[in-house]
Amino acid sequence: MYLSAFIAVYVLFIVILSLRFPEKYLNWEEINCSSYDFPDYFTWGVATASHQIEGNNNNNWTEFEIKNGLEKSDDACQHWIRWKEDFDLIENLGVDSYRLSIEWSRIEPNQGEWNQEALDQYSGMIDDLISRNIKPMVTLHHFSHPIWFEEMGGFYNRENTQLWVDYCKRIFESLNDKVTDWCTVNEPEVFSIMGYHMKMFPPGKGSVFKTIRVMKNMIHAHSAAYLALKNINPNTRIGLAKNVTLFDPLRRWNLLHWITTIILNYIWNGAIISGLKKGKMFGSKIHNAKNSYDFIGLNYYTHVLTSPFLPQTTEIDLPKRKHEVMTDFGYTMYAEGLERAVKLISKLNAPIEITENGVADSDDNLRPMHLRRHIWQLSKLISEGYDIRSYYHWSLMDNFEWAEGYKLRFGLYHVDYETQERTLKQSGSDYRDIIKSTR
Ligand code: FCB
Repeated sequence: MYLSAFIAVYVLFIVILSLRFPEKYLNWEEINCSSYDFPDYFTWGVATASHQIEGNNNNNWTEFEIKNGLEKSDDACQHWIRWKEDFDLIENLGVDSYRLSIEWSRIEPNQGEWNQEALDQYSGMIDDLISRNIKPMVTLHHFSHPIWFEEMGGFYNRENTQLWVDYCKRIFESLNDKVTDWCTVNEPEVFSIMGYHMKMFPPGKGSVFKTIRVMKNMIHAHSAAYLALKNINPNTRIGLAKNVTLFDPLRRWNLLHWITTIILNYIWNGAIISGLKKGKMFGSKIHNAKNSYDFIGLNYYTHVLTSPFLPQTTEIDLPKRKHEVMTDFGYTMYAEGLERAVKLISKLNAPIEITENGVADSDDNLRPMHLRRHIWQLSKLISEGYDIRSYYHWSLMDNFEWAEGYKLRFGLYHVDYETQERTLKQSGSDYRDIIKSTR
């Protein structure tokens, strides 16, 4: 009698969860991905980040690469000296916008010591983009920061927030007359989970408590910067780039898998959404976080099939459904998930910018299809009324993929790291055609 009651309740739970959180798949064979429509105001773009392309940086990441015996970023794409030619590549794609990040360690190599030359170079780069009719979107923190900041505890110590705000103000004061779109931090959840739980990013710690603390501090840092910058220029648009990774139970009949899924979804997605929407995350108040955004940047890549035994590393392939295609990163291509990610993030009631989407695919076999499916999905969402304003492909060119180094290639252009030659891939040419067809 108890047993049957238990089974009945268990089944009921699973049915409710399955209906409430469906794992949607589309029959792509039946979909014509060339049928899409984008409004005139829609912005097409490409994205990069300073440490991944500039070369010869000296920051928390370079230190971490050495300390952990990782592949070194070294010269990267030598973008710091080749930026003009790289801007030709961007122009050649016909995009409207370029999302780049500023390398704090170049601007403030020692605490309180500002490098005007570096600031002038960034300023010249922005001018050059504008002269080409390419709108810059600037990210202030994309995983890398100065060593002195790291040594002071970085975002682990909330007292350091003012140092970060000082840096943001310095950049903003010199660029806000020409840059209107700003991302404060990139992927606060990835930064804190990879750096403070999974040990794969600096500073390489392994503690859930530290992860939660850093995540809260990053949202605090974001909102402190938001207030300070809006105070200087209320007309500017400021947001942050949030990575939405979807979690689905590996076995949909297993309650333990559901419980893990729900917990991970809160830690990765829900906490930050709640921090920004209600000013509260992980049970504590985050001062000024509520509504501290004019848009929300969405970085979308995949979903993860979850169980209590989920591997705590990105070094091995994650589990996949039989029909799913694996990417070089060891997670699957799941374009349907863009719909779920947009729906989740639209809880924030703000315009959505797709600040990143792309795929690790070294021979460019998968990327053309990956691109088309995601763009089709995007167009559908816009037709359903979702306020999506832009799409930035990650990435302009192959670059230094953090803990994975150079083996993962995300570019629309291939980079030969020996010669620094860039070559347009098929996917790059497809992207250019797609953009042209929407004009
Ligand atoms: C995102 C990062 C970006 C890049 C892509 C592949 O999480 O923001 O720098 O590494 O993944």
